[in-house]
Parts: sequence; structure tokens; C-alpha cells
Amino acid sequence: MTKQTQQVLWSTRFAFILAAIGSAIGLGNVWKFPYITGENGGGAFILLYLACIALIGLPVLVAEITLGRRARQNPVSAMQFLAQEEGVTSGWRLLGWMGTFAGVLILSFYSVVAGWTIAYVIEAVSGSFTGLTGETSGALFGDLIGSWEEGLLWHTFFMLLVLFVVARGVRHGLERLVVILMPLLFGMLLVLAVYAAFAGDFLKGLGYMFNADFQALFQKCEGEACEFTAEPLLVAMGHAFFTLSLGMGAMMVYGSYLPKQASIMNSAIVIALADTLVALLAGIAIFPLVFANGLQLGAGPGLVFVTLPIAFGSMPAGLLFGAIFFVLLLFAAWTSAISISEPMIAWLTGKRGLSRVSASLLVIGVAWFVGIGSVLSFNLWSGETYQLFGKTFFDLKDYLASNILLPLGGLMIAIFIGWAAHRRLSEEELALQNPAVFGLWRWLVRYVAPLGIILVFLNAIGIF
Ligand code: TRP
Repeated sequence: MTKQTQQVLWSTRFAFILAAIGSAIGLGNVWKFPYITGENGGGAFILLYLACIALIGLPVLVAEITLGRRARQNPVSAMQFLAQEEGVTSGWRLLGWMGTFAGVLILSFYSVVAGWTIAYVIEAVSGSFTGLTGETSGALFGDLIGSWEEGLLWHTFFMLLVLFVVARGVRHGLERLVVILMPLLFGMLLVLAVYAAFAGDFLKGLGYMFNADFQALFQKCEGEACEFTAEPLLVAMGHAFFTLSLGMGAMMVYGSYLPKQASIMNSAIVIALADTLVALLAGIAIFPLVFANGLQLGAGPGLVFVTLPIAFGSMPAGLLFGAIFFVLLLFAAWTSAISISEPMIAWLTGKRGLSRVSASLLVIGVAWFVGIGSVLSFNLWSGETYQLFGKTFFDLKDYLASNILLPLGGLMIAIFIGWAAHRRLSEEELALQNPAVFGLWRWLVRYVAPLGIILVFLNAIGIF
């Protein structure tokens, strides 16, 4: 196979970092992180998650970007090309396939939650947040997700937004958008965190986030009866992959547009830091409000949508802040969704010769269709008859993609770069001045990350 030469590159390393940050920061940080933290008991879970980011996520992020830039192709062709270059089996392209599948799954539930943010922009503007209490806010959210018509409408609307950008090509426009919007989102979260410090139960919220009770973390109780569960470990690791956009080729594709002289290591560190900071800030803004308003920590996917509107409904200029916040969250979700669909689209255009527009229509169309099931999970299909393992279709897709497929993809990336490929590949691409940094990364990616992932998997199925 020949290497494509006419790849369009990011204009600068800065542009790449911004796009990658735009991919990383999204609903995962502001919506998913607080709600799974609430479901898993707080501080101990957060510590696990941070450990997963540092020991598994960051090394794999570096590896994924490295493979992408080396091959400069879509994930399927990239793995095939690299396997050939390294003289190993071309079966490695399975990694690309798996990523494509995971991408459709993720997009098909991501879009539904992103749709809720659009609905909430409108709620904010029309003044629905004014004077909300824990109860009325819960009812507002309940009404939204309870209506499949509305869910479908916003899901469709969001998919069209994504289609609009990906059909025109990712690199035009995305860069400029991210430069302005990400700092704004950060600023808004800061405002909310400060508000939470005054109006919320700040100490209790922070105590919940930073007080690690490991014993409680691994206990699953129903009534009086408690048993050991390794589930939180799997969820923490899965989320580390999800929030860094890892394990399905998204960062590989973005890396494939990265200019040669840019430092991958520094970029990856900046991306991981920014992503983690935003997630923690979202938690700091949300948990004090949860306690102050007597809301349920384990409220699940609705946590953010029930909590923050109460704050907007009682703060000065809350109508404006509320509208701005949900618009920014929508944009964050948008830039992320673009990166979820990019691997598949890159593959269809690069390998299958489809035009950019047809490929985008196909990918978004399939994800939209599968996504209808995610919409129905909150209303028509919310009953037990439609559940599997006690999970709705929405939850199942999230579970399968985030907790299984992404870590599996990450495992393959780590094994490929750490064991299958020659050391020279990463040495050349990373071009690190400091041999100790390279050594540390290589140790993490060869031993710590793969073993960590395997142990968590074994743990989750109860073997270890
Ligand atoms: N990281 C994004 C978030 O936190 C979601 C996302 C974008 C993603 N691209 C991805 C997740 C690729 C997995 C794989 O919202």
C-alpha cells in the first residue's frame, strides 16, 4: 500500500491541540463525569479515575497520536500500513474496524444528550429556570426526556449540525471555533463554581469529591445486604478513555493531520490536563448544589440537567448565564461529536473512495437511526421488558462502547506500539530530548497500561 501524500495538515501545532481539546472536552466532562461520580460515591472514584488518566490514558493518548502521525491515514489503513512497515500481521487493522463500530455506538447516544442541551438553551431563554427548586427542576427534565417526540426532534437537529460540519471537512472552521469557545466554557464553569461556593453547600460538595472512602466504593448494597463489586474500577477506566477520546482512532485521525515537527508528548500533556481540569471544575460547580438542594447524588444521566438550572434560576442574570452555558455545552458536544464521526468518514473517503458528502451522510444517517433507540430508552422503551442486564438500550451502548470497546482499543494500541512495533517508530516520532521521559512513557505503555487494562477487565468479570 502506498502512503497518501496530499494529506491536509493542521495549520499549526496550536491548532491541533485546540482541535484535540475540542474533541476531548465535551459531554463526557460536564455531563458524564459528575453523574458517574455521583453514582459511584465520590472521592474514591475520582482518585481511581485520575490514576487511570495518568497511568493508562496519557500514555495511550501519546501512543495513539504517534501512530496516527506516523501513518497519516484513516485508522483502518493506518494500522494496515504500520503493521506492514513493522513486518507484523495486517490483522491489526481490526483495531480500526472496532473503532468504527464503537464510534457509531457512541455517536448514537451522545447525540441524544447533546440534543437535550439544545432543548435547555431554549428553556433558558424562555425563562423556565426562574425560581426552580429541586422538585420542579426534576419535573422539567422529566418532561423533556419523557417525550419521545421532543427527544427525537433534538437528536435529529444535533445530527444535522454535525453533518453540516463533517460534510464540509473538519479542518475548515473547527480551529477558529475552538479557540474562542473552549476558554469561554471554562470561564462559565468558573462562574458556576464560584456561585456554588456561595449558594451551595460548598464544604459538603468538596468533601464528597475529595474524601476517598474506598471501602464504600467497592461495596454494592441493596438494602442491608452488601457485596463486593469491581464495577467502579471498570467505569473509572472506561471513562478515562471516553473523556480523552481514546481507543477508537479519533486521536489517531487528528494525529494524522499533525505537522511533523510538533511535539506529541507536550501536546498530549496539555490535552489531558485541560480535560481533567474541566471535569473537576464541573464537579466543583455541581456537587455543592446537589447537597444544598437535597438532590439525589445517584440521579444518573439527568444530574447536570437538574442541578445547574436551579442555580441559573436563582443567580443574578441567571437567564443570560443559563443560555450562554448551554450554548457553550452544545458547542463542546458538537466539536466532540465531529471527532467521533471523523475516523469512519476518513476511512470511507480514504479507502472506499466515497465523496466527503456521501460518507458523512452514510455515517450520520446510521448513527441517527441507531440513536432513535437511545431516545426511546427514556420513554417508550424505559420499562423492564426492554432492558438487558437491567440496562436500557441507551445504557447498554454506553457500557459496551466506553467500558469495553474503548479500553480494548487502547490495549491494542499499547501492545502494538510497545511490543509489535520497533522501538525506533516511537523514538523517531516522539523525538524527545530527554531519554528519561521517553523511558518512562515506554515503560508505562509497555507494562503499566496493558496490565492495568487486563487486570481491570479480569476483575470486572470476576476472575481476579
Ligand atoms: N471525549 C469526548 C467527551 O468527553 C467524547 C468523545 C469525542 C469521544 N471523541 C471520542 C469518546 C472518541 C470516545 C472516542 O465528551
